[in-house]
Amino acid sequence: METMGNLRRTHYCGGLRAKDAGTEMTVAGSIAKCRDKGGVIFADLRDTTGILQLIFDDSTDREVFEKASGLKSEYVVIARGTLREREAKTDKIPTGDVELFVTELRVLSGAQTTPFEVRDDINVNDQLRLKYRYLDLRRPSMHEPIMMRSKIAKVVRDYYDEQHFVEIETPSLIKSTPEGARDYLVPSRVQPGHFYALPQSPQLYKQILMLSGFDRYYQFARCFRDEDLRADRQPEFTQIDMEMSFATEDDIMTVNEGLVKRVFKEILDIDVPTPFLRMPYTEAMDRFGSDKPDTRFGLELQDVTDVVRTSDFVVFKSAIEAGGSVRLINAKGLAGQLTRKVIDKLTDVVKTYGAKGLAYTRLTEDGVTSSFEKFLTEEEKEALHKAAGAETGDVLLVVADAKNSVVYAALGALRLAVARKCDLIDPAKFNFLWVTDFPFFEYSEEEGRWMAMHHPFTMPRAEDLDKVETDPGAVRALAYDMVLNGCEAGGGSIRINDPEIQNRMLKALGFSEERARDSFGFLMDAYQYGAPPHGGMAFGFDRLVMLMLGRDSIRDVIAFPKVQNAGEPMSGCPETVEEKQLRELSIAYVPAEE
Ligand code: AMO
Ligand code: AMP
Repeated sequence: METMGNLRRTHYCGGLRAKDAGTEMTVAGSIAKCRDKGGVIFADLRDTTGILQLIFDDSTDREVFEKASGLKSEYVVIARGTLREREAKTDKIPTGDVELFVTELRVLSGAQTTPFEVRDDINVNDQLRLKYRYLDLRRPSMHEPIMMRSKIAKVVRDYYDEQHFVEIETPSLIKSTPEGARDYLVPSRVQPGHFYALPQSPQLYKQILMLSGFDRYYQFARCFRDEDLRADRQPEFTQIDMEMSFATEDDIMTVNEGLVKRVFKEILDIDVPTPFLRMPYTEAMDRFGSDKPDTRFGLELQDVTDVVRTSDFVVFKSAIEAGGSVRLINAKGLAGQLTRKVIDKLTDVVKTYGAKGLAYTRLTEDGVTSSFEKFLTEEEKEALHKAAGAETGDVLLVVADAKNSVVYAALGALRLAVARKCDLIDPAKFNFLWVTDFPFFEYSEEEGRWMAMHHPFTMPRAEDLDKVETDPGAVRALAYDMVLNGCEAGGGSIRINDPEIQNRMLKALGFSEERARDSFGFLMDAYQYGAPPHGGMAFGFDRLVMLMLGRDSIRDVIAFPKVQNAGEPMSGCPETVEEKQLRELSIAYVPAEE
């Protein structure tokens, strides 16, 4: 192995073009590929910006040529030479018009044979890629999202800075407070038996910063939630978190629409039209069965409860009698694709959302086949087809349930499954909207009580305040989510700045006065000393980057992500620790009971 000696990089590879031919330069990086064509050696050099071909031939100094013939994949080198136009140009790489004729070469590091090839078109299992994440990140398709992430962050910072937002860091070791997801806990050594929590978000701190007079705050905030992983959910993730004083919902939405517009223009050169569509929560549920509707395609839900109210079909009848509903999707013109077999598969989809079945009617040239119409009278059938706008070529997909939430969830998921199956989604589209007027409360069967849908510090709508105690389900919040292509890209709310209302909401959430004081006393005290009206939101930064780059998983845009069991395969955490470390913390390990 050699040192760099007096060689220093003068150029990066990725941007070199024919116009640079004739330039003497020094480049540095890893060998992506090396071919010895008897007397001529071609070596692809990869750095963080791209790939450049190095060439060594019979006019190359013998000592340099000798060294080049020993090059292997992933060797790290620095090379000086003259850039020249290639004889055989290629458009496979951006630098395909040029090559570097090398006059000086230093091998800075050797490399063992890698467990998988470091190039894009390979088929390697995820576990192996994550164990050798450093190799995986060398692959251009994995390298790029991390580079883009940094560029996007810079545009975000520029934008908020211009809008007079101040970047302020908040602590990572904080008080564990109830509500929300499960906390990650950190034991205190100095105060045995006491614990910090890692923040699920900087929510309370940013509210307090408004009380401290900072007016407008933002931060790239690491957040920690001990939840199950999904394609768009990591236990450790990043928010673009913001808060502003003297602001209405409208102000907050407008500022953040501006952010999105700016980022999409600068990074993707896409003009996002603003203002975004705003849709109340109830409309989103009724039309799409989801509070994060993908509006890139139709297949909207229709409520046919009234149409089939008189029917004797026991499935419909029992659902309606129990206060539920019967709703359907008319899959227009899709009878050819939605065969019996496909519908069977779709039935499994709705069942995972708690639906007991999927009733269907297929209207084809050969006639009508239905799983349930034999239970309807001629008039009922006709009324149903009319209401659904059913024509030859259509398929009606019906779910009935005693719980509207089940009908929504089942049809919302079915809608996406049909769209994917029938290829109705244009991946080039970016459809933004705000979902507004969320309910304040959401009933949790598991907890047997009302919980805050967003968080307990969200301001309820003034006109709904008198229903807090009598009809909690009807209380709406000044809360909003930004939805992009069926994904919750961000969410926020106007906050309660009146301690009396805060007390009332905590009480409605089942907090005793004592427990409320214990958990949130510091916040309620703070609000006694003058509080500007304020609100804000947080973007899921990983999600935003994922959606912008058209990736399917946020893992692809996080340098070192966690996997299903919340572990990180490269370092192997979480890991046991030494007995001594536990003793220092006054902690003993007692396995959880089944
Ligand atoms: P919320 O809990 O809605 O709001 O989070 C804001 C946004 O963060 C993203 N997000 C996640 N991304 C990846 N992995 C996760 N586990 C994860 N959880 C959430 C989502 C979500 O929209 N403090 C409030 C914001 C506010 O009111 O200002 C909050 O945290 O994109
Ligand atoms: P059955 O009388 O059991 O043959 O049911 C007739 C049809 O109704 C079948 O296609 C079932 O899948 C469907 N079905 C059963 N329960 C429901 C439900 N809750 N919602 C919609 N369809 C259902």
